[in-house]
Amino acid sequence: MSMSRRGFLATASAGVALALAPLPGGGTSVHAQSTGDARRAWAAAPDARQDPDPRLRALAYAILAPNPHNLQPWLIELVAADRMTVSCDLARRLPATDPFDRQLTIGFGAFLELLRMAAAQDGYAVRMDSFPDGTPGRRLDTRPVAGLRFEPMPGMASDPLFRHALSRRTNRARYDMARVPDAATIMLLASAAVPGADVGTTTAPNLTAALRDHVWRAFRTEALTHEAHIESVNVMRMGRAAVIANPDGISLDAPELEPLVAQGVLTQAAMASPDSPVFQQFLALYDGPVRATPAFLWLVTPGNSRAEQLRAGADWLRLNLQATGLGLALHPQSATLQEYPEMDGLLREVHDLLGIHQGRIQMLARLGHGPVVPPAPRWPAATRLKG
Ligand SMILES: Cc1cc2nc3c(=O)[nH]c(=O)nc-3n(C[C@H](O)[C@H](O)[C@H](O)COP(=O)(O)O)c2cc1C
Repeated sequence: MSMSRRGFLATASAGVALALAPLPGGGTSVHAQSTGDARRAWAAAPDARQDPDPRLRALAYAILAPNPHNLQPWLIELVAADRMTVSCDLARRLPATDPFDRQLTIGFGAFLELLRMAAAQDGYAVRMDSFPDGTPGRRLDTRPVAGLRFEPMPGMASDPLFRHALSRRTNRARYDMARVPDAATIMLLASAAVPGADVGTTTAPNLTAALRDHVWRAFRTEALTHEAHIESVNVMRMGRAAVIANPDGISLDAPELEPLVAQGVLTQAAMASPDSPVFQQFLALYDGPVRATPAFLWLVTPGNSRAEQLRAGADWLRLNLQATGLGLALHPQSATLQEYPEMDGLLREVHDLLGIHQGRIQMLARLGHGPVVPPAPRWPAATRLKG
């Protein structure tokens, strides 16, 4: 018997809420969590210490970097005994919402920074040459994003942020509106970025209210722009089996959603159709977390070059790790920063709202205190190796 629409809405709501709910016991250790097949990479990273190859030991952590829609576009080639190249799996781009691969490049910046940190922890310095065969133009191409050389450096200082690598999350839950992050904590948070980075934050009631409204309108605009929305729907993994088969993209695998997947209620076709209850619920479910946002953080670069995008990625990773250490949650709100005609007005508006007349906002995020959430799925590191 199929489920009534009302039943679906209640169950879907509970299911998605459950996906965002605190873990039993409130622990953050990945070993304490139910990792499931799709999330095994988080527990596998420390185990990779057994690997005789320092590049693979570092790679096991680097694949845990934040990246757009969790598509994990990195392709690794091991060269000679101490080098690797990192290039882009061109099939894992998001041309409708990221037409210039700006966000993708930010994701590579985060990946490279985490790789560097993991290697340092292991006593290796990584010499990095970005875009060694030339910087791509409008879009990334098959040329490497980075060439890396690992150099043993016994006793090398580790990065204190690395200790948060396994508990870092993108936290899409509701944040506690009664706990506004205080100025001293926010200052500590911002100090994690590479010196010279331009990090903005606000807890001001008027500005946070304006930003809540803004990011909600941007989310809605994206959902109602067919090509942009379909691009996300195509990478939604609905149900546990789909997430295990493809541990990437947008995972909808809360146990409560399983009956909806089994009954054919929660499908990509339903999600794609603005008239369906599934789509309506998808929109409605975003409203709660956005309203429960006591602070925002953003990252600005003077220009929008590939080098600046890579650096923004490194800064984003560092901020996300520092937030974890400070008990703060972050959730990027990238819709408004995207470059397609339907979003043009909002992209200009957000720069005006934040008083940024020179420079490019590379990341904008919800900031606050949130519940503990589970790690996102990952492909095992070995699957990202070329050849
Ligand atoms: C450049 C960039 C943009 C992102 N934009 C969004 C976003 O708009 N909404 C969102 O929920 N997550 C966003 N994320 C977070 C990714 O979805 C997240 O990193 C990925 O799903 C993996 O999850 P994890 O960070 O918990 O490991 C973004 C991440 C990056 C690096």
